[in-house]
Amino acid sequence: MSKDQQLRNDAYAAVDKHQSLVEQDPYRLHYHIMPPVGLLNDPNGFIQWKGTYHLFYQWMPFKTGHGAKFWGHYSSEDLVHWTHEEIALTPSEWFEKNGCYSGSAIEHDGDLYAFYTGNVKDEEGNRSSYQCLAVSQDGIHFDKKGPVVHLPEGYTPHFRDPKVWEQDGAYYMVIGAQTEDLKGAVALFTSDDMTDWKHLGILAGGGKGKLADFGYMFECPDLFHLDGKDVLVFSPQGLEAEGMKYQNVYQAGYVIGKLDAESGHYEHEDFYELDRGFDFYAPQTTEDEHGRRILFGWMSVPDQNEQDHPTVKHEWLHNMTLPRELKLKDGYVYQTPVKELEELREEAPVEHPVDLNQETRKLEGVQGKAVELVLEDVAVEKGWFSVMIGDDARLVYSSDQNVFTLERRSYVDGVVENRQVELEDLNDLRIFVDTSSVEVFINGGKHVFTARFYPSPEDESITFQASEKAGFRLKKWDLKKVF
Ligand code: FRU
Repeated sequence: MSKDQQLRNDAYAAVDKHQSLVEQDPYRLHYHIMPPVGLLNDPNGFIQWKGTYHLFYQWMPFKTGHGAKFWGHYSSEDLVHWTHEEIALTPSEWFEKNGCYSGSAIEHDGDLYAFYTGNVKDEEGNRSSYQCLAVSQDGIHFDKKGPVVHLPEGYTPHFRDPKVWEQDGAYYMVIGAQTEDLKGAVALFTSDDMTDWKHLGILAGGGKGKLADFGYMFECPDLFHLDGKDVLVFSPQGLEAEGMKYQNVYQAGYVIGKLDAESGHYEHEDFYELDRGFDFYAPQTTEDEHGRRILFGWMSVPDQNEQDHPTVKHEWLHNMTLPRELKLKDGYVYQTPVKELEELREEAPVEHPVDLNQETRKLEGVQGKAVELVLEDVAVEKGWFSVMIGDDARLVYSSDQNVFTLERRSYVDGVVENRQVELEDLNDLRIFVDTSSVEVFINGGKHVFTARFYPSPEDESITFQASEKAGFRLKKWDLKKVF
């Protein structure tokens, strides 16, 4: 039997073995993409191809830890209902034996081209990385063509996560990199035919420009047009916390600029985090057939106490964020859940005009473990106002300080921890709760907080509180279970 077939059989056997344990987990998600068993990390190869959305993902089917990754595969017609497809890539060949790492997909001559990093470690633990191509005619089965990009001079083997796009009749690729003097960088390549790739140089970081000295490694770069600008999204490692910023072990964010593709020169503004919550990393975008720029992120961060998540006991770990549409507004990337997600809403919303006056209140019909809450026309005159989800996560807005805070009970030691952002004002909140995940979109999606949290499963309460006066219009929907 081929190594590829053996790995596939082993992975499907792991799914059969642990599936019912995953099913029994009260923290299993209802409408977020999660692995059938094992560990999921980065979104890969996200594309709408011949009408169908494909989302591949970094998958370790054999344990809830990292290792020689597979490319798992979900497909969807509507970004709401997803089908788990056959495994796309197994780490079966010499050039990927320690993992088919992250990458992207693009259509070429009617076929689906997937570019990914072949990760290889020798006996002493020395790493090599190869940027590989695999081609599919049906979007399901891939024919591996092997390495197409080898490591250029000036970089360490921390060189991975190719993202490919077409522009003005040529192909371009950005790769996450570390320079030999240990600076995070994005490398830029170009090609006419998708197989012969030329190194154009460093696009950002690596001792140049505004990101000259910005951590020791950039992972998962993604460069795209958005509303007349060129946005570079990437995940830097090695930033020091700075006030309310950069609180997680690693970050994920963007810079806005202008790319001169021919010369490879990229002028850009300062870095902003895409998400201010506890669990967000390695996002990837695609432009769909409606011309929308859509993003999925991984709802976790590497090396952030991953084994302490209670889902590990149920043989699964991590999930994706909701798909979010990106727009550029007054110098920021705004994120909103794609319109299709309204399809998740059961029946008509429960609606309340709410006026709180130094009180704590639960509202008729407002509870649940998989819900969407919309708070509009929020007015907090003085003091603070909060929304508590179950007995665990709490969203607090202090109008005195103009600070928004997400608190949760740490899944490591139970101590309350928080993440914060300063706002100009609080106008609206859109909150998605899914058993053990919460995503909060503030002021039309200018700021986003994403986190896992683990409330007591029987506690489905939602509690509102104001230290002084707070008013808003509330809508609440129960959301369907689609996974
Ligand atoms: C980001 C990352 C990528 C790598 C992949 C391996 O989370 O470290 O850089 O390709 O995960 O699973």
